Amino acid sequence: MESLTRRLMVTVLIAALLMPLKHLVGGTEYNGWAPNKTNYTSDWAAHQQFHVGDWLYWGYDEPRINRQLFSVFEVNKTDYDSCSTDHPLYNISRGGGRDVFKLKQSRPYYFISGGGFCWKGMKLTVFVDRHHRQKHCRLCPQLRPYLQVCLAYSELLQ
Ligand SMILES: *[C@@H]1O[C@H](CO)[C@@H](O)[C@H](O)[C@H]1NC(C)=O
Ligand SMILES: *[C@@H]1O[C@H](CO)[C@@H](O)[C@H](O)[C@H]1NC(C)=O
Ligand SMILES: *[C@@H]1O[C@H](CO)[C@@H](O)[C@H](O)[C@H]1NC(C)=O
Ligand SMILES: *[C@@H]1O[C@H](CO)[C@@H](O)[C@H](O)[C@H]1NC(C)=O
Repeated sequence: MESLTRRLMVTVLIAALLMPLKHLVGGTEYNGWAPNKTNYTSDWAAHQQFHVGDWLYWGYDEPRINRQLFSVFEVNKTDYDSCSTDHPLYNISRGGGRDVFKLKQSRPYYFISGGGFCWKGMKLTVFVDRHHRQKHCRLCPQLRPYLQVCLAYSELLQ
């Protein structure tokens, strides 16, 4: 019984570690997405690991005016470099100043704000690792007995 309980606890722990992550852009829930704040790509994204299935979260509703000023678009590399929102690949802004986006593929993603704020640093490049988080189970042999449970659990999360 004790070993079953232990097994269950370890499984829950591993499952938690393998869950897709929600990355708070800029590192904070509030005002993480703001002008003149940081170099999002080199100072923030470079210290994160992004995996297929993870989420990005942009918070910019404090003060409330910010949700009208700032926005989030996925654009291609050309438009990223020129800060253009003339032909966005995806309009992520929903108007509430709390936007989310799921990283579904292993590729570079380019995000910018409209309203001219891209020129003030509101731009972000993210490189997504091709492995789902559950693949990292393979890296830790001691976790192998739980791999099936991990995979089953991860499948549920997809
Ligand atoms: C950001 O910096 C630019 C250039 O230094 C400045 O003109 C602008 O007013 C600043 N914007 C904000 C919102 O701080
Ligand atoms: C980005 O889109 C623009 C407009 O559709 C196009 O002219 C440009 O070649 C595209 N750039 C890339 C890298 O795909
Ligand atoms: C993006 O979507 C939001 C919410 O649907 C909308 O208010 C906004 O006008 C859209 N922006 C563009 C440039 O299409
Ligand atoms: C952010 O840092 C990257 C990598 O060093 C650099 O290529 C880019 O120009 C910087 N972006 C801004 C807005 O300064």
